[in-house]
Amino acid sequence: MIGGLYERALAGYGPVEIEHANGDRSPLPVELWQVGRPGDETLLGHCSGPTLDIGSGPGRLTVALAERGVPALGIDVTPHAVAMTCAAGGMALERDVFHRVPGTGRWATVLLADGNIGIGGHPVVLLRRVADLLGADGQALVELEPPGDTTRTESVRLRSARHIGEWFRWAYVGADSIAGHAAEAGLAVIHSWTEADRWFAALARA
Ligand SMILES: C[S@@+](CC[C@H](N)C(=O)[O-])C[C@H]1O[C@@H](n2cnc3c(N)ncnc32)[C@H](O)[C@@H]1O
Repeated sequence: MIGGLYERALAGYGPVEIEHANGDRSPLPVELWQVGRPGDETLLGHCSGPTLDIGSGPGRLTVALAERGVPALGIDVTPHAVAMTCAAGGMALERDVFHRVPGTGRWATVLLADGNIGIGGHPVVLLRRVADLLGADGQALVELEPPGDTTRTESVRLRSARHIGEWFRWAYVGADSIAGHAAEAGLAVIHSWTEADRWFAALARA
């Protein structure tokens, strides 16, 4: 995800694909991340209080929250994505979620949307970090794969017609597998729901 090819895709320099470890390829859906997806509304509706959008990309959720009066900060490791969020009127910082993040221990809502539970390739490690970021009564809203999809981690890389990126690790977590990972991170599922073929869970401190 990280790197020049992702930035080129965001900047509209032609299609970029995700290459999976088994050789399969799928399109990198940057348009969906920019114009919005069915199901976004329900996710936004569950955000309350100061919200940290982890891996905010071009910032459609960060910006939508700000527009409805919810204080929101996007963080992303990709400079062009952060610049796009700021240009669209959102607040965003170039930050790795595993490094220093403002408001650590005070966020009311932390968002992991669009498969961002995959960041780093270790869902429990990421959820432990999310638990650090949350305030005592905070909630994490996590988007998941459909029920029945077991947790898996794979190496992926981005490629275009002319460029190939570095391999990096990414994880996928099915809706019926999140409770175990949450428990290992000191969190519990307090609510789960589905909308527009997307699956979500709200987590809070166990
Ligand atoms: C699947 S895209 C999410 C798109 C985004 N939610 C949106 O609405 O456009 C994953 C995003 O996570 C970012 N990312 C990857 N690793 C990260 C990390 N360690 N910390 C913060 N952001 C990260 C990538 O740069 C990318 O923008």
